[in-house]
Amino acid sequence: MPQTKNSLFDTFQRPMQDLRISVIDRCNFRCSYCMPDAEFGKHYSFLQTKDWLTFGEITRLTKIFVSLGVSKVRLTGGEPLLRPDLHELIGQLSTIKNIDDLALTTNGSFLAGQAADLQKAGLRRLTVSLDSLDEATFKKLSGGRGSPTEVLSGITAAKQAGFRNIKINAVIQKNINEHTVLDLVDYSRSSGHILRLIEYMDVGNCNHWESTAVVKSNTLLEQINAQYPIEPLEANYYGEVAERYRFKDGQGEIGFISSVSQPFCGTCTRLRLSTDGKLYTCLFASQSIDLATPLRNGATDTELTALITTAWHKRADKYSENRYLFRSIDRQAPKVEMFQIGG
Ligand code: GTP
Ligand code: 5AD
Ligand code: SF4
Ligand code: SF4
Repeated sequence: MPQTKNSLFDTFQRPMQDLRISVIDRCNFRCSYCMPDAEFGKHYSFLQTKDWLTFGEITRLTKIFVSLGVSKVRLTGGEPLLRPDLHELIGQLSTIKNIDDLALTTNGSFLAGQAADLQKAGLRRLTVSLDSLDEATFKKLSGGRGSPTEVLSGITAAKQAGFRNIKINAVIQKNINEHTVLDLVDYSRSSGHILRLIEYMDVGNCNHWESTAVVKSNTLLEQINAQYPIEPLEANYYGEVAERYRFKDGQGEIGFISSVSQPFCGTCTRLRLSTDGKLYTCLFASQSIDLATPLRNGATDTELTALITTAWHKRADKYSENRYLFRSIDRQAPKVEMFQIGG
């Protein structure tokens, strides 16, 4: 287990290490597993801009998290590149000492126009969601709003802007995009970008998740191994979510994120800050700690530090390890939505 001089541990002795900051809850896509079109307008609405934490507020809170042991920061959304002037926030965060990793997860559709600014501002790593290279499959998955060609141009622009080790995230669903996985593998092998295949999860309530829609990582692993033999690699860091493999022929690596079939709560070091300043200690949480209200009412750094410390000390989340038990008790139990905390 890693220990920094400031490490803070929860009830299962898990250190606080990664902060994921959602900078906007809106998105130009309507992925069926995150914000299905049919649900929007009807049952869900987006935050008002006055409720968004300002860049100054985000930076102030981030400094406090870093003082408590956080060393990895990832910006998410909704779609983070819809947040106006995002590069300015990145500029502010990149000046904070002791952040070893500043990354962003995006759907890639605005990347071509912003990659150079993001790189210049100090963003170090980029993950792009891309569920299929097949035009029709992608269109269906993104709620009719996106195109893989646009995302691919974004990735190319990011590489030209100087980003290295770009990751590609693909959520695989049964009978939806399962049949296009090998195309993604081929693309990743030829481009050098690191593909991660993600099991479809029951984040939130609006995707109406069913376990029958999940494609287990082992199924995909066998399929890929039969075409391109792979072997396991060591994790890059404590608590890494993806299980890494390398292609035996030397053509890069691939990751599997298996929260459903092989939960990784035991080493979960992540916490999430929503656009409106709520702190979540689990991706599947139903409750949060409101940091925005005290922040805006003049709380001191010491007071904010105490709120965060208490939340982490009390943390006992292990949703994925107990998924089927929780769902058997109440499958409709309210949970935060993916677009509110960005995964
Ligand atoms: P790296 O720093 O590159 O290792 O990134 P990452 O894999 O932590 O981040 P990314 O945003 O790419 O997440 C990949 C997938 O893993 C997304 O679908 C996330 O929702 C999922 N994921 C990340 N953290 C957790 C977690 O704590 N629990 C669960 N169940 N899923 C997670
Ligand atoms: N299950 C698994 N992954 C999901 N993502 C969004 N919703 C889900 C879900 N229900 C992924 C996105 C993005 C990452 C942050 O989370 O595709 O790559
Ligand atoms: Fe948008 Fe990402 Fe959600 Fe898809 S998964 S709707 S791209 S925030
Ligand atoms: Fe962490 Fe919750 Fe995911 Fe488990 S389910 S790995 S506790 S975020």
